[in-house]
Amino acid sequence: MTTPHTDGSTTAHRHWDEVWKTSGGRADWSTPDPWVADTLGLLRDRQVRDVLDLACGVGRHAVFLARSGFACRAVDASGTAIEQSRAAAEAAGVDVDLRIGPMNRLPYPDDHFDYVLAFNAVYHGDRDAVRGHVREIHRVLRPGGLYQLTMLSRRNHEHGKGIEIGPGAFVQPEATDDKVHPHFYCDAAELIAINRPAALLRAHDEEHAAPGSFHWHCLFELAGEAGGRE
Ligand SMILES: C[S@@+](CC[C@H](N)C(=O)[O-])C[C@H]1O[C@@H](n2cnc3c(N)ncnc32)[C@H](O)[C@@H]1O
Repeated sequence: MTTPHTDGSTTAHRHWDEVWKTSGGRADWSTPDPWVADTLGLLRDRQVRDVLDLACGVGRHAVFLARSGFACRAVDASGTAIEQSRAAAEAAGVDVDLRIGPMNRLPYPDDHFDYVLAFNAVYHGDRDAVRGHVREIHRVLRPGGLYQLTMLSRRNHEHGKGIEIGPGAFVQPEATDDKVHPHFYCDAAELIAINRPAALLRAHDEEHAAPGSFHWHCLFELAGEAGGRE
């Protein structure tokens, strides 16, 4: 069985590294999600400049954010994700600072970003691992910074399947997709608890392409005055 490592690192990127090697695997992940595009107005109102696409996959959102005029960095634990993101940025003619790295030890200094996007990213792991991923987002965000993330909802049809390795976290040893690695599912109260002390600005529980694939879509804000940048 695949279990989380004791240092809080997770293993799902191994699955995704294989997915990203094929054009079929990349096909569903090449267009920015409309929910991300819908946030542009808010980011401009807030005078956001430095942005991070956390667990960027093949770069659909990183390229979109760079094209929209933000100084964009992106990170993923999969080397293939980063190669493919580099090719996508070159093809689009935009600059994205790309790094290979884990979500629980982000290769960035404290207080660096105005905005972090983590789409279908931080829920890979058990509750402690997920809490660690969120803490890293808090560390690299500036006071008053925003972050937007999806989390697996307990309404998701995969919730409760397989072996419960900890509260709300499941592994499906027989799965042929990334559910062979730990995934964490939460309700609204847990969503808020995991993200403390950030304030929840918006959340809705949305079905993705597959029937029953409910994900929370949330926007959080860190406490503090925005705009302390020089
Ligand atoms: C479902 S894909 C989403 C990709 C991208 N955010 C998007 O919306 O197109 C999940 C991504 O998370 C990455 N990932 C999984 N575990 C990770 C970890 N511990 N650290 C960094 N990246 C990780 C995978 O390699 C994969 O690229």
